Amino acid sequence: MRRTRSRLRTETRQLMQQIFTKLDYRALAPIYCDEGGEAFWEDRRGPCERLGLAIAAALKDRLSSRGRSLYVGAGVAELPPLIMEVLDRQREVMAFNLRAQEVAILNAACHDLPLSFRAADARSAPGTFDHIWLVSVLNDPECFPMLSALSYGRANPVTFDVEAFSQERTMVFDLVAGCLQKLSCPGLITTSIEEIPWITDWCDRHAAAYVIDDAIYPTALVGDPLCFVWIHGSARPETEPARRAPIRASS
Ligand SMILES: C[S@@+](CC[C@H](N)C(=O)[O-])C[C@H]1O[C@@H](n2cnc3c(N)ncnc32)[C@H](O)[C@@H]1O
Repeated sequence: MRRTRSRLRTETRQLMQQIFTKLDYRALAPIYCDEGGEAFWEDRRGPCERLGLAIAAALKDRLSSRGRSLYVGAGVAELPPLIMEVLDRQREVMAFNLRAQEVAILNAACHDLPLSFRAADARSAPGTFDHIWLVSVLNDPECFPMLSALSYGRANPVTFDVEAFSQERTMVFDLVAGCLQKLSCPGLITTSIEEIPWITDWCDRHAAAYVIDDAIYPTALVGDPLCFVWIHGSARPETEPARRAPIRASS
């Protein structure tokens, strides 16, 4: 069992606060909330910073210096761990998000840091990574409406579109395979409790041993609790072929 002991450097914490101050919340409002987006940020910004700091400290404890991290679906909530990685651990990070508008806002706030977001499919990331962050992506209602409804217990059995769900599930299998094949082992996955079945399914298919860390961390935006999964390697090589082309970013 590992417990969080590390603290972020004071300069790192100050820089995080500055970045959160610089964010264009007016522009972020319609991206994060259909109704009353600015009120949403007034309410969520503080918890997002505070909980993000706790998650960044927990991650700092679990990552070595100078590795590489792949962030799939990185938005405002991912700023604290990303900033921690580059400043406190001197790691290389690659952050992907399909929402081009959000990527522009994040990059504007972070332009003084060795950190940039890409509006592209995370499967296009080159090389391998010893840490993959995949939080609240596989149950995203925008990308996977049926799957999301099922995951969160909101599916209506009368109207549920089984064919659409089946297509979404294939898309998620492919997304998970396309990302996790980039993990060097031993490696770490940061994910949400809801997404664990996708990670363990991939491990089982690849005969990869895994351990789910017992620590759980609350999040402030999507609200899915977050956890860490250690992957210890595969007894046999990757055999699954890529089944579909990468998804393109929205404008
Ligand atoms: C519900 S949001 C979660 C954002 C953030 N992780 C959080 O917890 O607040 C899901 C995000 O995943 C992104 N996404 C979905 N598929 C992706 C892919 N293949 N590559 C990169 N980002 C992806 C979407 O663009 C969206 O920004």
